[in-house]
Amino acid sequence: MTATVRKPGLLVDAVDVVKAFNSGSGQEPVTVLRGVSMTVTNGEMVAIVGPSGSGKSTLLYCLAGLEPLHSGKVELFGQDLASLGRNRLAKMRRDRIGFVFQSYNLIPSLTAAENAGLPGRLSRRRGAAEAARDSLRAVGLSERMRFLPGKLSGGQQQRVAIARVLASGASLVFADEPTGALDTRSGQQVLELLRETAAGDRSVVLVTHDLEAAARADRVLVLRDGQIHAELITPTVEEVLESVRAAGDEAAAA
Ligand SMILES: Nc1ncnc2c1ncn2[C@@H]1O[C@H](COP(=O)(O)OP(=O)(O)OP(=O)(O)O)[C@@H](O)[C@H]1O
Ligand SMILES: [Mg+2]
Repeated sequence: MTATVRKPGLLVDAVDVVKAFNSGSGQEPVTVLRGVSMTVTNGEMVAIVGPSGSGKSTLLYCLAGLEPLHSGKVELFGQDLASLGRNRLAKMRRDRIGFVFQSYNLIPSLTAAENAGLPGRLSRRRGAAEAARDSLRAVGLSERMRFLPGKLSGGQQQRVAIARVLASGASLVFADEPTGALDTRSGQQVLELLRETAAGDRSVVLVTHDLEAAARADRVLVLRDGQIHAELITPTVEEVLESVRAAGDEAAAA
């Protein structure tokens, strides 16, 4: 039996997440996340911004169940990740979560269309191949469906990774710098697709250096040195810029 969602509409509920990495024998572990609490509700697009090294990618991995926590708690769809066994976590990740990695993570031996259709195939979703082709068209890659990742540019590979998430029908999409390798036009196209994805019972958590992209989100969290420094509700680009500057300045002064 599937556990019921105790807080309706809450897709992510992270409380006091602490994450440390061992940095080698005899060295003190490095604490990267220092008590992060945040939520994501149905239909929301949440952007996470902050200086390089502030822990944005690490936070996404922890929220998506890809990295264990040192302490604290992450609930997805009302279920505590720590209480899910490995199989149930894998199933949740396969069926309900999409992740666009900063480094794309495409499977080199599969074509663009096969990569984009893989999550749907693994979940045995009907029409997976068609959905993959549709989303490749949506990201402007209709001419590249049969190409292997090695024959695609960085930006094209990034767009395949985005098509893969869009085609998967995942209700919770994590995207780490999804426009990092794209030109302005393709970047805007991808953002528009992510913006459309965050509706109904689907939500998007976006990590980005692009403050204009962040300003399209419903909420912007500014991370600094592993902590949430500010939370901005539907801010303007200027407000995001100011908050990121303040976070950077304080980090530099610390
Ligand atoms: N596997 C790991 N082992 C040890 N340290 C790590 C590991 N992954 C990340 N870190 C450290 O955690 C810190 C935060 O890294 P993270 O990748 O989360 O930053 P980020 O905010 O995503 O940066 P960027 O904007 O450059 O992508 C860095 O100081 C990094 O060295
Ligand atoms: Mg990162």
